[in-house]
Amino acid sequence: MHQIIEDLNWRYATKKFDSEKRISKEDLDVIMESLRLVPTSYGLQPLKFLLVEDKDLREELLQSSYLQRQVVDASHLLVICSFRELKEEDVDLYMETIASTRDQKLEVLETFKTNILNFARNKKDSALQEWMERQAYIALGQLLHTCATLKIDSTPMEGFRAEEYDEILGLKDRNLTSVLVCPIGYRHPDDPNIERKKVRKSASNLFEII
Ligand SMILES: Cc1cc2nc3c(=O)[nH]c(=O)nc-3n(C[C@H](O)[C@H](O)[C@H](O)COP(=O)(O)O)c2cc1C
Repeated sequence: MHQIIEDLNWRYATKKFDSEKRISKEDLDVIMESLRLVPTSYGLQPLKFLLVEDKDLREELLQSSYLQRQVVDASHLLVICSFRELKEEDVDLYMETIASTRDQKLEVLETFKTNILNFARNKKDSALQEWMERQAYIALGQLLHTCATLKIDSTPMEGFRAEEYDEILGLKDRNLTSVLVCPIGYRHPDDPNIERKKVRKSASNLFEII
């Protein structure tokens, strides 16, 4: 079997983490670099990744996570946040990064910048925020695969109250909102989900070749 398929079969949404095991700095660096390399629409990266280590803070977040213990027991808790608003200065910063990375003049990027700003202005605030939140899901998908490749367990989670997370983590004043949560670490041998078979649609149901 291809290694990619083996890794994807190995991973599962972990219900119980071993609270004694910690992810090495080396592996964390790979995870962070993988998230840095996540593709986003226009390449804008309207995202922020919070890596929560502090156990007291995580106990506080537990109440806002429907008491899902993974939030506290995992080695690390990743909170994927998106921007609340897209500001012109964010787009300017992106243009500057392109210019310096590719050794280009800012003037050459003027049309690209206008396109992005027009795209944003033509959307309602709520639609724009939703669009930025969708970028977070791309990051989640890549995160799950990267972790599986490193034999690190993970739990993708929408089961939390974002408004409370935003309050506890002080996100609103930073123009951020929490979109997804993902505890990462190592499965506990007693995790009831370890032995459960994967349930997926058949390929014939899922694909159409036309
Ligand atoms: C976006 C998303 C949100 C999820 N939220 C939760 C959650 O809050 N709690 C949980 O235990 N599992 C959660 N899951 C896990 C799914 O139930 C699980 O991925 C799915 O049943 C497939 O099983 P597998 O990941 O073990 O292969 C979530 C998965 C995704 C992709």
